[in-house]
Amino acid sequence: MKLCIDDANVEKIRRVYDLFPVDGVSTNPSILAKTGRKPYEVLTEIRSIVGEDGELFVQATSLNAEGMVAEARRIVSELGKTTLTKIPCVPEGFKAMKQLKKEGLRFIGTAIYTPMQGFLAAKCGAEYVAPYVNRIDNMGFDGVQVSKDIHDAITRNALDSGLLAASFKNSQQVLELVKYGVKAVTVAPDVIEGLVKNAAIDAAIAQFTKDFGGLVGEGQTMANC
Ligand code: G3P
Repeated sequence: MKLCIDDANVEKIRRVYDLFPVDGVSTNPSILAKTGRKPYEVLTEIRSIVGEDGELFVQATSLNAEGMVAEARRIVSELGKTTLTKIPCVPEGFKAMKQLKKEGLRFIGTAIYTPMQGFLAAKCGAEYVAPYVNRIDNMGFDGVQVSKDIHDAITRNALDSGLLAASFKNSQQVLELVKYGVKAVTVAPDVIEGLVKNAAIDAAIAQFTKDFGGLVGEGQTMANC
């Protein structure tokens, strides 16, 4: 399962990339707006962090298929072949996806709240489909279950696609889909750091440090004791 960072803040991306096993970065228009920077400027910087092989996800903002396809061509020409254009799963989006498939441009279906959106995007050839887990939860439905249903629909119909599940607000939502074996999740930096943040871990490490310091002297490690 791939783990991506759902953010465009370069400092946060650098920190999480340095510490965690990360495979790529996803953005959307709202995430880019939060940076207050020119889109291609910040995305080029993110590309330099993820490297040539890392996957970068950038959303098309047009409301019609022709515009979305034009955006995908520009996005790939500016940011490289491992950049996937996020196409909203609406009728004009499906039309755009069919054209992108013909042109061999990589794309992902996004803004997914229902299993049928995910299924149709996968059928159009989307490499990933992105259900919004927490937003679905906030609507009073079960975002993890919707994601599992999409995963199952893709698998049982033998479609060449998989989830890039998105919109997580806590570790439990992420864990449920990790256990289910989805293709990828994209998670905000604070939620990624929260996956392994708890007082028991900190207390255990502090005790080891104290005990070893008592044995060989404070600040000494296995490298220099
Ligand atoms: O990119 C889409 C998704 O990750 C949105 O997340 O936190 O705005 O619900 P959020």
